[in-house]
Amino acid sequence: MTSIRAVTSLLDGRPFDGAPGGAVALADPAHLDETVVEAKLGDAATFLEACRRAKAAQPAWAGVPAPVRGRAIQQLGRLVEENFEALSQLITREIGKPIRESRGEVQEVVDTCNFFLGEGRRLYGQTVPSEMPDKQLFTFRTPVGVAAIVTAGNFPVAVPSWYLVPALLCGNSVVWKPAEYTPATADAFAQLILHAGFPRGAFQLVIADGAQTFEGIERALDDGVLDKVGFTGSSEVGSRIGELCGRHLQSPCLELGGKNPLVVMPDADLDLAVEGALFSGFGTAGQRCTSLGTAIVHHDVHNDFIARFSKAATDAPIGDPTRDVLYGPMISARFSERYERWLELIRPHHTVSGSSGIGRITPENPRTGFVGDPEAGLYYHPVIVDGVTIDDDLYRTETFGPLVGVASFDTFDQAMELANAHGYGLSSSIYTNDPLHVFRFRDRVSAGMVSVNNSTSGAEAHLPFGGNGRSGNGSRQSGMWVLDQFTRWQAMNWDYSGHLQKAQMDTTELDADPGFRLRAD
Ligand code: UN1
Repeated sequence: MTSIRAVTSLLDGRPFDGAPGGAVALADPAHLDETVVEAKLGDAATFLEACRRAKAAQPAWAGVPAPVRGRAIQQLGRLVEENFEALSQLITREIGKPIRESRGEVQEVVDTCNFFLGEGRRLYGQTVPSEMPDKQLFTFRTPVGVAAIVTAGNFPVAVPSWYLVPALLCGNSVVWKPAEYTPATADAFAQLILHAGFPRGAFQLVIADGAQTFEGIERALDDGVLDKVGFTGSSEVGSRIGELCGRHLQSPCLELGGKNPLVVMPDADLDLAVEGALFSGFGTAGQRCTSLGTAIVHHDVHNDFIARFSKAATDAPIGDPTRDVLYGPMISARFSERYERWLELIRPHHTVSGSSGIGRITPENPRTGFVGDPEAGLYYHPVIVDGVTIDDDLYRTETFGPLVGVASFDTFDQAMELANAHGYGLSSSIYTNDPLHVFRFRDRVSAGMVSVNNSTSGAEAHLPFGGNGRSGNGSRQSGMWVLDQFTRWQAMNWDYSGHLQKAQMDTTELDADPGFRLRAD
């Protein structure tokens, strides 16, 4: 039996004494009788204190040359690689993510570090011609200041790294508030960050619940010790954070929910589409913001698609996340309780398939072929709900769990309406071999991310990641695009003519002859 970890917030790298926000003991969702971690929670005052310390440390960190900051990112990437297996195993233990996916998630952190270590030697500004002689224009990227990063627990290291790594590289200091239900993984990742060479105050870890964090953000904004918020979580909380930051003239980086469509055209390779739907619908037990919401299938192939998809879900190995399974347990009881309420959105006009039952897998409600002991953890049947219409609650509700809706269409216009009308716009996918459909779909879909003959989830770590509408405020993470979240453009002009040259007024006039006309032959 593995020992129970004890974790707490880390201010300036030192464990924060006391538990003003209370304490939690969290179980392994695959083995509910085993406690993984006991965490002492901070409160709004802890969060504020972390922001103050981060603010004090930020100018010195920003003064470190960017290529040297990139070296710290390189060292972090190496440390993650050296601790790859331990970190992957811990993720699986704390949230029940299948070990193969946990390793993929840790690899995503390494990829992110690999991308940004080089950015330390770029972080380009521009030289721009002036409209006057003996004058030159420049642009510089300057850090924003203190960034508070508030993340969800379904990707307890990969998504945080999308924020923390570029924010630090750009010369900001960071206060990370991980999900309070993944404190063990957060503490492990924080230890790696603290050993990578960043100065103490540049990285602060606060373990706290959502309400205390919200209050902490409010107080830190009021006190002027917080300059940017990055948030991954629900659309509802995202809009509250947006409102709060807006009052301080700040625009947060918001990565929110999704109801991601996967359109299957009549010419699609159906087996490929089913493979994509299975992975994006049920991988991570459907607990990704990029998970498949509704498969939108052309009438001509609908029955065939349903038959193949149902068989694939029925046959898929589900269970013990340390083994080779499609998915393991729900992340925690808070996820399974919410998911059970969403199951109530299934209506009599729907047809359900994909497993030998609906809801929690138990000896009374068994899953044929279950891998391991279902009673030990929070396991749920995969559910395919056919007959979803645009008026259903299920159509417009993000159901964070192993549930996929299926709707059908006749015309491309109907498919597009189904793909967009829910108001989310994160990820999307189309299965077709017709370039016309591909480019029309790309043009008309509201999503920030489009897959062609690929699933809705599994974005690569160096393309812009983010959504529109209910999925976010247009901010983008990853690759060079995220630099605009963690830097501000500063424009500089330098006049070395020795006299005042007034823009727009002292510019050279060219002698043109606007009355000139070609002779008609
Ligand atoms: C999330 O669920 O918040 O594209 C992020 C994907 C993963 C990231 C998901 N690389 O599915």
